[in-house]
Amino acid sequence: MTRYPLVVPTSKEVIEAAKMRVIAAYNESLRMRGEFHLVLAGGQTPKVLYEQLVTANIDWTKVFVYFGDERYVPLDDPQSNAHMADEALLYHVPIPNEQVFRFDTALEPESSAKDYEDRLHASMGDRRFDLTLLGMGDDGHTASLFPGTDALTVKDRWVVANPVAKLNAVRLTMTYPRLNHSDNVLFLVVGANKGVALAQVFRGGDVPAGQVSAEYDVMFLVDQEAARAGGIR
Ligand code: 6PG
Repeated sequence: MTRYPLVVPTSKEVIEAAKMRVIAAYNESLRMRGEFHLVLAGGQTPKVLYEQLVTANIDWTKVFVYFGDERYVPLDDPQSNAHMADEALLYHVPIPNEQVFRFDTALEPESSAKDYEDRLHASMGDRRFDLTLLGMGDDGHTASLFPGTDALTVKDRWVVANPVAKLNAVRLTMTYPRLNHSDNVLFLVVGANKGVALAQVFRGGDVPAGQVSAEYDVMFLVDQEAARAGGIR
């Protein structure tokens, strides 16, 4: 497994490079397996990428979309990661609804996590995700794996409800065992405020984003601002 940064000038190039890599991973997965299992990141950075994927040369009937994490809010809540992806991408492409795996946040948190895990098993068995997209917070969290939270030490579950004291909220999140069960992982990291966490990722610090691995590559797509703030070349 290789973990490395790719520094590009601005957030525009981060999105352009990410789009190229999603399409490359899609083409490779179609060639090898005839379908593409993609995990979407939440937050705001990937929104423009999702909007640009609407017009990409992708056969969405061959694509299966999952969410690395979700806020425990209704799916039509502006805070919902599924809501962001639906509005930016999924409502605008012909992906079969049964191939979009949104969390059922009408269930109690732990039941929602278990339900999602069961659906993952049913959809994928022990197959790796073809590509997992992730973001990183300025504290080094990724998905909803926040520093100091219980989910960080879970080894026997793929999805858990994770109380996050700093947010005074429960989050639903894939765990390391499931996120790491990916062929490739692509982080999108933009902005000087991510610099300290980025430095910890590449200097052996103990931040969640630095603990994510993959079968092949973990690439951090980073803009100059974040790279400079993190002392990354
Ligand atoms: C979420 C995401 C989270 C996000 C980071 C970065 O639910 O918010 O899963 O891990 O990727 O907080 O968010 P930005 O890309 O908006 O900075």
